[in-house]
Amino acid sequence: MPEETIKKNLVDKGVSRRDFLKLSGLLAAAMGMQLPPLQESGLPMSLGTPVRGAQTEHAILHALETKMRLPVIWLEFQDCTGCTEAVSRSVSPSLTNLVLNTLTIEYHETLSAAAGYQVEQAKQEAMKKYAGQYILVVEGSIPLANDGAYCVIGGRTALEHLKEAASGAAAIIAVGNCAAYGGLPKAKPNPTDAKGVWEIITDKPVVNISGCPAIPEATTGTIAHFAIFGTLPELDNLNRPKTFYGKTVHDRCLRRPFYEAGKFALSFDDEGAREGHCLYKLGCKGPTTYNACASIKWDQGLSFPVQSGHPCLGCSEPNFWDGGGFYQGQSAPLDRPTVAAVGAAVGAGAALGIGAALVNQSRKKAKKGGS
Ligand code: SF4
Ligand code: SF4
Ligand code: F3S
Repeated sequence: MPEETIKKNLVDKGVSRRDFLKLSGLLAAAMGMQLPPLQESGLPMSLGTPVRGAQTEHAILHALETKMRLPVIWLEFQDCTGCTEAVSRSVSPSLTNLVLNTLTIEYHETLSAAAGYQVEQAKQEAMKKYAGQYILVVEGSIPLANDGAYCVIGGRTALEHLKEAASGAAAIIAVGNCAAYGGLPKAKPNPTDAKGVWEIITDKPVVNISGCPAIPEATTGTIAHFAIFGTLPELDNLNRPKTFYGKTVHDRCLRRPFYEAGKFALSFDDEGAREGHCLYKLGCKGPTTYNACASIKWDQGLSFPVQSGHPCLGCSEPNFWDGGGFYQGQSAPLDRPTVAAVGAAVGAGAALGIGAALVNQSRKKAKKGGS
């Protein structure tokens, strides 16, 4: 393990005591106030589970002051880097930012200053030095078709990199729908035979922080849980932390009163849409999608897709992208003539054109559904 405590590292980086205290409060909230049993957490008896409020914060404070920093190796395979972008774009002094300061990111393709042979060498050394101790974060799916030829880094396939890094990891966190369930690369016809991490690594705990991108607080909250307590949070049947994926988008949606009242938008520019009515009839997958976006939101709690007027596409579920609302047609080009219109819009570089083509498609569906 790295030699310094989480607290010392934070202090050395100029984090004030006030922000340090704020971090423990934020962590308590992010972890849903659930501490692991005493024997697993190593906390004093008085701080055992279950605890709430100030006592929880005190327990986290104690852990931050005494626990060593956690080494992290972050691999990227078939991804768009959006999940890394989401985590790295947080504004200080956010939970995400502070938690990242407590980690020793030994390897990260996008964030590392080094490149090529040098950075591969650094990864090898880190895996050796922290064998059995590090957290492996994976972003992006793993292609199996054609012997993995679709994703090769440093002359070796994504599958080889994953298996090697997983063998020495204490736990694995699959960040984003691509790494968790295959995501966009797995959309029909899935030419690379893209897989999620847990379909390949079955002898190690794999936590799925699904979403496209994954919510940064869910990623860092889960890493922080392991850093502080040495255990993973409680998971659902799809290996997602219950704290963040225990409720549907629909459960916490601000448009829910309109759903209950039977008031639906039937197109993106009708009166219902302007009045903020429910988007269910425009293909919203909120009722069957488990994610924390309706409560944590994005950009420091500013908004989330449904609040901005866009139906939920189910980005945290295993059937994303093919099962995703009114965009479904884009994933099945051979079956859907409407895709030609979408393709033309893309060719013209007209983002609004894409929207128009899709709106027309959804209008037809909505008209069939009625109000
Ligand atoms: Fe990009 Fe979405 Fe995949 Fe994350 S889950 S890497 S944002 S495509
Ligand atoms: Fe539910 Fe979607 Fe309607 Fe929100 S917009 S209430 S998530 S169906
Ligand atoms: Fe994803 Fe639906 Fe939330 S598309 S970000 S789970 S609103």
